[in-house]
Amino acid sequence: MKNAIETHDLTKVYSNNFKAVNSLNLEIPDQTIFGMLGPNGAGKTTTIKMLTCLIQPTSGTATVGGYDVQKNPDEVRNLLGMVPQQVSLYKDLTVMENSQLCADYYGVPHDERDSRIEDLMELVDIKYAKDKVVGQLSGGQKQKASLVASLVHRPDILFLDEPTIGLDPTTKRTLWDLIRELNDSGHTIILCSHDMHEVDMLCDNVGIINTGNLVAYDTPQGLKDALLESNRQEMTEALTQISEENEVSTSTKEDFENLSLRKMSVLLKNQDEGIINQIRLINDVKSIEVARNGRINLRIDAFDDMAVQNVLDKISQSGGIIKSIYTEEPSLEDVFIKSTAEVNEDDRV
Ligand SMILES: Nc1ncnc2c1ncn2[C@@H]1O[C@H](COP(=O)(O)OP(=O)(O)OP(=O)(O)O)[C@@H](O)[C@H]1O
Ligand SMILES: [Mg+2]
Repeated sequence: MKNAIETHDLTKVYSNNFKAVNSLNLEIPDQTIFGMLGPNGAGKTTTIKMLTCLIQPTSGTATVGGYDVQKNPDEVRNLLGMVPQQVSLYKDLTVMENSQLCADYYGVPHDERDSRIEDLMELVDIKYAKDKVVGQLSGGQKQKASLVASLVHRPDILFLDEPTIGLDPTTKRTLWDLIRELNDSGHTIILCSHDMHEVDMLCDNVGIINTGNLVAYDTPQGLKDALLESNRQEMTEALTQISEENEVSTSTKEDFENLSLRKMSVLLKNQDEGIINQIRLINDVKSIEVARNGRINLRIDAFDDMAVQNVLDKISQSGGIIKSIYTEEPSLEDVFIKSTAEVNEDDRV
């Protein structure tokens, strides 16, 4: 598969000598949705600015749609659309006028221009404000106006820098659907977001950037699996330590327990002490507690593939009827926290 974006040792040192992006090597396959995660100040916006030719790299190279961002910036600009983190529309112009300006800049055929804009406005539900000046819009309305303006020339590659911040839940979902539709029709999407659920749901691949470095890159599931695997390794190390040391510290014990356990919660229609006692007897169940809302909260062995099934079997054998159930998987948020935990404080200033 062709890559929509490739960077080789891409680096940005700002004029105050701060290295915001440090030798970034990144490949984003064509026609995929890529999620860029990273703590505040990690270098995401700086990377996007270099890829969209808004700032020059200090060293290294980057290609967008096969064009070099430094040698062929005009070709790159024609391929891409950008919804910036800070809305950059003209405040004194209306939503319609801003979109028309963008359309004209990109050479959208004149006879198609206004109908395209109105279709997009309908899609993100901002048509009712088309004649309002941008300066008088709410935060979410500005965001929608910015989307319309950046999509009007149907860019092959679309950069969205935290596009759903400040959007209400309904509009957020509309935008997610729109991102999926654009991708289905062949567009590559680069999405910067702090919303882990959004990234998990939408993205084919996720890159995590920390202090200007790419610290993880995989599919969302791949990242979660890798976290479980690394937990398992840490647990093995903790086990070795426990067997070697006579006096085990409380924190080692706690680490060990947290790593090896998974949360599970069940709500029964016919809960009684007998069923709970039966669950208590299962080997994989390490703790059990009945919450005020009636849910039975369990801690089970995280690495035994049969642990959940064993609990379910025992409940049905004891005549229990399950109304609701969930288990807690490692989330993308867990992956984020772990892979960005190690920060060299010197790199941050
Ligand atoms: N023009 C500039 N001059 C100097 N330093 C800058 C400039 N712009 C950004 N930085 C620094 O570069 C680092 C990366 O900033 P960037 O905006 O790329 O972060 P980010 O990952 O997008 O963060 P956020 O999640 O908060 O949007 C930060 O430490 C920031 O202070
Ligand atoms: Mg940013």
